[in-house]
Amino acid sequence: MPKAPVFRLAVLLLTVASSLPAATPPAAEARPAEALYETGRRTRDGIGKYYFGREISQVMGHQGAGWLERPERELEERTDLLLDALKLRAGDAVADVGAGSGYFTWRMAKVVGPQGTVHAVEIQQIFLDLLMANMQRRRVADRVRPILGTVQDPKLPDGSCDLILLVDVYHELDFPFEMARSMVRALKPGGRLVLVEYRGEDPEVPIKPLHKMTEAQVRREFSIQPVRFERNIDVLPRQHILVFRKEP
Ligand SMILES: C[S@@+](CC[C@H](N)C(=O)[O-])C[C@H]1O[C@@H](n2cnc3c(N)ncnc32)[C@H](O)[C@@H]1O
Repeated sequence: MPKAPVFRLAVLLLTVASSLPAATPPAAEARPAEALYETGRRTRDGIGKYYFGREISQVMGHQGAGWLERPERELEERTDLLLDALKLRAGDAVADVGAGSGYFTWRMAKVVGPQGTVHAVEIQQIFLDLLMANMQRRRVADRVRPILGTVQDPKLPDGSCDLILLVDVYHELDFPFEMARSMVRALKPGGRLVLVEYRGEDPEVPIKPLHKMTEAQVRREFSIQPVRFERNIDVLPRQHILVFRKEP
């Protein structure tokens, strides 16, 4: 595997904490005891905060937009296969959480069509501005709803989504428990939460360790959420497609 992408990703993973909206006050509802955040050694790409023994990674800054939109991405990551695997239908209401420049927002917007909706959630306004400009250019802005979330709350309406997609995002959530809880609430009964993460089990995947996740780790972290693990769709060259479903 070429090493260049690793270096480029490392360069792009800039700390952006200072430019992010301040964390909302702690949620009124308590976290269960297992959902413990611990402080530990801060490694180069991490924030020194640990969840289920995993150090949370730094957030990608808006300077990474070019990398997200790189032309070779489709071949490297087979994003076409990922889109197919989602099995979206015209008219679906979906969310792209951590949407970045909107790489998946517009591709999903094309599939759900004018009767569908794509909620594009970001914590960086600059990404949302760029994303909406891209959606105008692609002529799908009519069905895309930009949402400025916080690090704890995607601000999606309860029970509104058939599917919520996070591509290369979950490992960098500062508050994974609160975000997961809120996203599950935003699903319709029977709706799907889909996490796409670089495979942590595979040393050949040329991505820094904190930006990869194993299936076992993701499943541990979701074992305390009211969703059922459905399957890992194993069709991509570098990433897991981990599907959780809310009970109907
Ligand atoms: C590596 S980028 C991936 C962008 C996009 N999903 C893609 O694959 O092209 C991760 C994005 O997640 C966003 N992010 C991080 N924490 C977030 C949160 N709590 N809520 C919403 N977005 C978040 C970051 O701002 C960043 O734009």
